[in-house]
Amino acid sequence: MDDKKLIFSAIQPTGTFTLGNYIGAVRNWAPLQDQYNCIYCVADMHAITVKQEPAKLRQNTMAAYALLMACGLDPEKSILFIQSHVPTHALLNWVLCCNTQFGELSRMTQFKDKSQKHPDDVNAGLFTYPSLMAADILAYNADFVPVGVDQKQHLELARNIAQRFNQRYGDFFTQPEPYIIDVGAKVMSLQDPTKKMSKSDENPNACILILDDKDTIIRKFKRAVTDSEAEVCYREGKDGINNLMAIYSCVTGKDFAAIESEFAGKGYGDFKLAVGEAVADHLEPVRTEFDRIIADKAYLKQCYTDGAAKAFKYSQRIVSKVYHKVGFVDR
Ligand code: TRP
Repeated sequence: MDDKKLIFSAIQPTGTFTLGNYIGAVRNWAPLQDQYNCIYCVADMHAITVKQEPAKLRQNTMAAYALLMACGLDPEKSILFIQSHVPTHALLNWVLCCNTQFGELSRMTQFKDKSQKHPDDVNAGLFTYPSLMAADILAYNADFVPVGVDQKQHLELARNIAQRFNQRYGDFFTQPEPYIIDVGAKVMSLQDPTKKMSKSDENPNACILILDDKDTIIRKFKRAVTDSEAEVCYREGKDGINNLMAIYSCVTGKDFAAIESEFAGKGYGDFKLAVGEAVADHLEPVRTEFDRIIADKAYLKQCYTDGAAKAFKYSQRIVSKVYHKVGFVDR
C-alpha cells in the first residue's frame, strides 16, 4: 500500500440495507476509494451478539458482501472481507479487552438499549462489543472511520483504548478519527418521521430496503405519513414532507428551493409518486448489479477469499507487534 491515509469501516449483516444505511453510509464509501486506502468488512462477529439463526446469518453475510460490491466497492481497489475470516480481530480483541474498563463499557448507550431490548440474553459479547470494534479498527491502524452518529460513542471508546495502550506500552496505535460525511439529513421512518428509518420497525411500510422492487418502493412512498397541509415546502413541524424532500434531494441532487418550485401547486400525491420513482430509478442499478454478483457464487467466493488473505497479511504484522509489546513470547 502507498502512503495514502487509511479508512476502515464495517457494516453488520442484518438482512439487506435500508435506504437510510445506503444514503447515510454505504453509498458514500465508494467515492473514498480513489483518495484513500480503504478496508471494509462485513461484521458477522458483531452480529452474533444478538441471537441469529445460523443459516440466515450465513446468507445475510454473503448478501451484505455482494451488496457492498453492488454499491461500488471494488475488491481490486479496496480490501473487502468478512470479519470472521480474519482471526487477527479476535486475537487483538483479547488484548484490548484487558485495556478496557468495565465502567467504560457500562456507559455505552447501545449496550444499555440492547440489554433492555433483550433482557434474556445480556451476554458478555454484547458488553465487550466496542472492544471488538476497536480491534477491527486498530488491527489496521486506520486513520479515519466513517461512522454514523449511533457509532460515535464506540469510536470515542476505541480512541481511549488506543491511548491507554500507548501510555502503558509505548506509542504504537494511531488515534482513529471519525470521518464525518455530510449527507444532509438522516433518513427517517416513512410512517413516523420523528423516528429513524429502521428495518426492525414492525410496520413494513416504514422502511425502504435497497433491494425492494420498483412497485414496492412506490407503494411505500405513496403510503408515507405527511401532514394535513398541501404544500411541498421544507419547514419546521412538517417532518414527513421534510423527510421526503431530503430523500428526493439525495437521489436527484436537486436542492430544496428547486424541489419547492417543481411541486408548487401540486398535491402530496404527485410529490410522493415522484419521490418513489426517483428512489426506485436511483436504486435500479444497485439491484441489477446485486443480482448479477449474488448469482455468481464462485466469483463472490474468490473475492472474499482474496480480501481475507490481504486483510490478514496486513493486520497480522500489526497484531504480532502488539503481542510482543504486551510481553508475549515471540513465536
Ligand atoms: N458496530 C458497527 C455498526 O453496527 C459496525 C462495525 C463493526 C464497525 N466494526 C466496526 C464500524 C469498525 C466501524 C468500524 O454499525
